[in-house]
Amino acid sequence: MPDMDIAPTAAQAATEIPAYNQSATPADLLIRPRNRNFASAVIDRRRWVDGDPFASAFFNALSVTFPEGEIFFIDSLKKFRKRVPPKLQREIRAFIQQEAIHSREHHCFNEHLKDCDFDISRLEQAISGVVNRIRTMPEHAHLVATLCIEHITAILAAEVIANPKHFENADEQQRKLWLWHASEEIEHKGVAYDTWLHMTKDWSPFKCWFIRCSFMAKIAFGFTKNRARGVLDLLRQDGISGPRAWLGLAHYAFLGKAPFRRTLWPLLQFFKPGFHPWDIDDRALIRLAESEYEAAIMAEVDAGSERPDSLVLDKTERIKKVA
Ligand SMILES: [Fe+2]
Ligand SMILES: [Fe+2]
Repeated sequence: MPDMDIAPTAAQAATEIPAYNQSATPADLLIRPRNRNFASAVIDRRRWVDGDPFASAFFNALSVTFPEGEIFFIDSLKKFRKRVPPKLQREIRAFIQQEAIHSREHHCFNEHLKDCDFDISRLEQAISGVVNRIRTMPEHAHLVATLCIEHITAILAAEVIANPKHFENADEQQRKLWLWHASEEIEHKGVAYDTWLHMTKDWSPFKCWFIRCSFMAKIAFGFTKNRARGVLDLLRQDGISGPRAWLGLAHYAFLGKAPFRRTLWPLLQFFKPGFHPWDIDDRALIRLAESEYEAAIMAEVDAGSERPDSLVLDKTERIKKVA
C-alpha cells in the first residue's frame, strides 16, 4: 500500500472521495459516542426476545462476536488515523470511542449470558480464530475486512431499528442496548469505508472494487456459516437440536422476522461499482432509535422509578477510560 503521510490541504480533504465514486458520507454527519451503560441489565429470561428461542439465540450469537470483533475494528482503523484528512481523523476517533463502549457493554451482556448457564466458549474461540487469521495479513487487509463487516453490521442495524418486530416483547433493557448499538453502527458506517477510499485513492477503480468485493464474498459466507453454527450451539443448550433447530433457524432467518432475507438486497448493493455506505441515507433511523430510547427513560422517570446510576455517571470520565 502506498505511503500517504502527507497532510492534505482543505481543498484536498473536501475531495477525498475519488471521482469515480459519486456518493460520500454526509458533510454534516456528526458521530458522537453516547456512553450508555447496561452492566446491571441482567438477562431475566434465557429467551429474552419475546420468548423466542431462535431470535434470542441469533442476537446472543451476534453479541458474542462483538467484544473481540470491535477491538479488532479499533486496531484496524487506529493504524490509519494519522494518514487521513482531519475530518476523517475526527470521525475515526469517534468511531473508536463508540466501538470501545460497544465492546464493553457486550462483554457485560455476554457475562449475563453465562449467568443464564450458556457456555459461549466455543463461539468465542470461533471469533478469535477468524480475527487472529486476519491479523496475520497485511494492514490493508485489516481495513478491508473491517469495512466489509461494518457494512454487514450497519445493514443489520438498520433492519432491527426499521422493523420493530425484531424486539417486540423483548426484555426492555436488552432492547435498549441493541437499539443504542444499532443507531451508532449506522452513524459510523462510512468511517472504515472512507478510510479505505482515502488510502487507496491512487489505486485503479477496478483493483479497489475487486479487492473489496472478493473480501466481502468471503466474509459474508464465513459470517453466515459461523453465526449459524453459533446459533445452533446455543439452541442445543436451550434444548432444541436436530431438524427442529435447522428448520426453526431457517424459518426465522428467511421467512419469519427474516433478518437474513431482509438484508440480502442491501448486502448485494455493496458489490456495485462506486458503492458507498451512505448511498442509503438512513439517518432518520438513528433519530428513531434515540427517540424510542429517550421515551423509555422518561417513562421510567415519570413512573417514579430511580434513574439508573449508569445514566448519570460522568460521561467524560468513562469515555476517557475506553479511548
Ligand atoms: Fe459496534
Ligand atoms: Fe461498527
